[in-house]
Amino acid sequence: MSEPQSPWQVVEEWLPGNDEPERPQMNLSTVSITGEPDARTVLLSEWDSQGFYFHTDALSRKAAAIVANPAVALTFLWPGFTKQLVVQGRAEVAPAPEIAAAYQARSPFLQQLAWQNTFEFAQLPDDERRDRWATFTEAHTDGASEPIFSQPETWIGFLVRPTRMTFWSSGSDAPSRRVEYRATSGGWTVAYLPG
Ligand SMILES: Cc1cc2nc3c(=O)[nH]c(=O)nc-3n(C[C@H](O)[C@H](O)[C@H](O)COP(=O)(O)O)c2cc1C
Repeated sequence: MSEPQSPWQVVEEWLPGNDEPERPQMNLSTVSITGEPDARTVLLSEWDSQGFYFHTDALSRKAAAIVANPAVALTFLWPGFTKQLVVQGRAEVAPAPEIAAAYQARSPFLQQLAWQNTFEFAQLPDDERRDRWATFTEAHTDGASEPIFSQPETWIGFLVRPTRMTFWSSGSDAPSRRVEYRATSGGWTVAYLPG
């Protein structure tokens, strides 16, 4: 068996490029400071040799959990259950230029969502939510073909630096294959696991 020395070579092969408009979904698991687990889906904004980046609201539950306890896990699942990547690591606030670039790369809908996805907005009836959404879009369009939004103060991004990456691929004529990379001070160790 000759696996690549670095898990990033496998990530490059498995995940779409950062410039592909369709972003992969991943499950982000967190553990609160008192030990309660939580999980939700987020979009992978981009990755590089340092780790995986996602973006969210600084006032969200996930952001509070990470600030209290940076240990997280990410799970990517491919359609048809052909592949799974599980990442264990530690999250930290991403550099400001990365956070800004990720906001610019989001669609106008997702940019507006970052402004209006508030606790107050969530309490409103549906028709008022639609009205306020349309008014906000119009106020930011100003004759242009698409609305233009500045980055809200609560927009934040996290970098998950992996300590372990486990690549699972299904097989039809043999058991599924699991290859696990663990970070060491000098690189990565590779292990083959059942399951
Ligand atoms: C397909 C999909 C993609 C999502 N992408 C994001 C995302 O990139 N960032 C985000 O903050 N929430 C995203 N959400 C919403 C989260 O799953 C979650 O409901 C929200 O962020 C609140 O989570 P929290 O209360 O645990 O902080 C997405 C939901 C779905 C179903």
